[in-house]
Amino acid sequence: MQKHITVIEGDGIGPEVVQQGLKVLHAIEHRFGHNFTFSHRMMGAVAIDVTGNPLPEDTIESSLQSDAILLGAVGDPKYDNDPSAKVRPEQGLLRLRKELQLFANIRPIQVFDPLIHLTPLRPEKMQGVDFVIYRELTSGIYFGEKGLSEDTSSAYDVCSYTEAEIQRIAHLAFQQAGNRRKKVTLVDKANVLETSRLWRRVVQELATDYPEIELEYLFVDNAAMQIILNPQQFDVMLTGNMFGDILSDESSVLSGSLGMLPSASIGKGTALFEPVHGSYPQAAGMDIANPMATILAVAMMLDHFQMQEEAAEVRKAVNWALTNKLVTKDIDPTHFYGTSAIGDLMASFIEQDNAHINHSNASLNKSTII
Ligand code: IPM
Ligand code: MN
Repeated sequence: MQKHITVIEGDGIGPEVVQQGLKVLHAIEHRFGHNFTFSHRMMGAVAIDVTGNPLPEDTIESSLQSDAILLGAVGDPKYDNDPSAKVRPEQGLLRLRKELQLFANIRPIQVFDPLIHLTPLRPEKMQGVDFVIYRELTSGIYFGEKGLSEDTSSAYDVCSYTEAEIQRIAHLAFQQAGNRRKKVTLVDKANVLETSRLWRRVVQELATDYPEIELEYLFVDNAAMQIILNPQQFDVMLTGNMFGDILSDESSVLSGSLGMLPSASIGKGTALFEPVHGSYPQAAGMDIANPMATILAVAMMLDHFQMQEEAAEVRKAVNWALTNKLVTKDIDPTHFYGTSAIGDLMASFIEQDNAHINHSNASLNKSTII
């Protein structure tokens, strides 16, 4: 199969982790006889430095013409501490979401058995945790009218949703639940917010199309507690833009390493795949970043291409690496491998049909730098 992918490395550790994702894509190409072509484009702080624009036009054009986008991360501390900065790296990502109408952000939260000791919860609370957050991504308070009074003493951000915006993501969430454990939890603040009451009405009506799916409601403050108290209860969590932003970060720490979690943003056309973690500028260029989240984002991309067998192969490689302690410093601070070594190991595992790799071969690459 032929697929065209726009590659956006972005800032900080973005380039390093994306390189490992590309190694894995090349290995899949060779092993399964596909043909993937790539266009490299800029976004974020690096794009501001070079062009003055966090999302140059040719990045949008290339993205629109691609089957998928592989993104590293955007963000640079030199913009974070300056509230008066007019141009920010994150604007690139927000605009790309809007331009491509990437209205659904999908973040799976699962436990990796070999890493269960890393969870901040009691390990038995994490046993079998497997849920997915469907976060609305192109509306709500992120994209409503905003303003600052002339004397700068007051400001506002409007949160608004339409029925259609709620319906399109809710359908995806219910369809996904149909392939899983058949439960949707709508998270909102319907005791206070009008937009949340709209979400409840629209989702309740739409739920009648999915009689086999159980629908439950949680207020967002309670949801934040439940994620820590009993994460096993969730299957598909459906929520708006800002609640989803916060709850997905909260949930992402359950598995013990932010470096393991991928995300997909899908909409009408080209879909985008990225790790959940940020640009981690302190680690840039040090070959210590965990590339697994990006590699798992590649697996989500392959699923999206209907390449289920290929996606399963990538996940198998990840499990093999974790089981054999082929991990980066965030997972094991004393015996760890470099970012690039992990990418090479994963690619060889996939390419050689798992035949010639064994733990002792892999150990030869073991980093001695501590
Ligand atoms: C995310 C990020 C973004 C968001 C930022 C970088 C604008 O936190 O993808 O969750 O808030 O959506
Ligand atoms: Mn976020």
